[in-house]
Amino acid sequence: MVKLKIGVIGAGTMGSGIAQVTATSGHETLLFDADPRMVSRAKQGHSDTMNKLVEKGKLSRETANQILASITYATHPNEFSECDFVIEAIVENLDFKQKLFNDIEKIVDEDCILATNTSSLSVTSIASVCNNPSRLIGIHFFNPAPLMPLVEIVKGIATADDIEARTKEMIVGLQKIPVLAKDTPGFIVNRIARPFYGESIRIYEEGIADFATIDWAMKEKGFKMGPFELMDLIGNDINYTVTETVWSQLFFDPRYKPSLTQKRLFEAKRFGKKSGQGYYSYAPGSILPEPKKDQASAEIIFMRVISMLINEAADALYFGIASRDDIDLAMTKGVNYPKGLLKWCDEIGADKILTQLNALKEEYAEDRYRPSVLLTRMVKEKKKFHA
Ligand code: NAI
Repeated sequence: MVKLKIGVIGAGTMGSGIAQVTATSGHETLLFDADPRMVSRAKQGHSDTMNKLVEKGKLSRETANQILASITYATHPNEFSECDFVIEAIVENLDFKQKLFNDIEKIVDEDCILATNTSSLSVTSIASVCNNPSRLIGIHFFNPAPLMPLVEIVKGIATADDIEARTKEMIVGLQKIPVLAKDTPGFIVNRIARPFYGESIRIYEEGIADFATIDWAMKEKGFKMGPFELMDLIGNDINYTVTETVWSQLFFDPRYKPSLTQKRLFEAKRFGKKSGQGYYSYAPGSILPEPKKDQASAEIIFMRVISMLINEAADALYFGIASRDDIDLAMTKGVNYPKGLLKWCDEIGADKILTQLNALKEEYAEDRYRPSVLLTRMVKEKKKFHA
């Protein structure tokens, strides 16, 4: 493996995790943050993580020390001058990111690849301020970066093909699974996963079932976590913001409309586990509510949510957001779905999914339930996604 010099900017949740990943793969890693306390915190975090891995017998002390020694905790971006890659993981703000890349471009060599870990901004717009936008690319890790295998690689309008190829090679070298995504809101995972949350909230809002019952129903059908417990884990602040961003950036397409239920939780700072209260209460002594375990209602809930998810996957394929295989890989490796959605569609039957969507569309008369053109065609032509 080629040993690279990789600079990571932003030492928060994602940056510190990404630095751990690159160092673990043997790359010389530099980590910088505008706030020196974040760098110290990341340094302490890396040391604690390595100690834990040694205690559990997953790493030798020698390897752990090597990993730690390969990370330089930088005090100034000038130290990045000889980097082969610079990965930006600073706050999700277009102006801040544009300014940062503008500054970094002046520090690094011409052949250094510039990468952004943005989850919702356009890679093209971040690159637009660069002198050479062809070397800027999106590499979207998932949280926690050391554990989640998926990385979405996103080419902006100007990104050069060889930059994509070199980036893919680097990501594979990190033992991660790369998928290619078009520079569109939410890329693959954050776009396709929207109805897992949105349709579940809608089912609750209509009084069809409570949080615990919806969570139970989705787990009965194979999901590792229910939508409400997952939103509480991700944080309702983050989850709401992603929903709102994807919706507005897709020009307010009603299919992605956020829900008032989650907006109110967000406003009330009921972020979930981290704040002690979300859809559920996590206060000491609180007991999680019991679901109403009825298989017939589980089927109704599941069919409504899975149909909406499959519809998104089909639409993403139709609009060339990613390939069939990358769409299925992204959902299993990025958010732990038990099966790829297009494969799942083949199993359930595209006709059943389409019938469900059309029934919802007719009953509610909302564009939210409009079926993807591709799904309609697949049914007409009796085709499967994985033929
Ligand atoms: P965070 O808030 O934990 O860390 C951001 C860090 O950037 C902070 O330590 C801050 O001091 C630093 N920073 C801000 N401006 C800076 C500048 N100009 N120069 C250097 N450092 C600067 O944020 P988090 O969650 O790590 O997110 C970072 C990026 O990764 C964002 O673009 C986010 O959208 C993306 N992302 C986040 C995921 C998550 O689950 N948290 C998942 C995937 C992507």
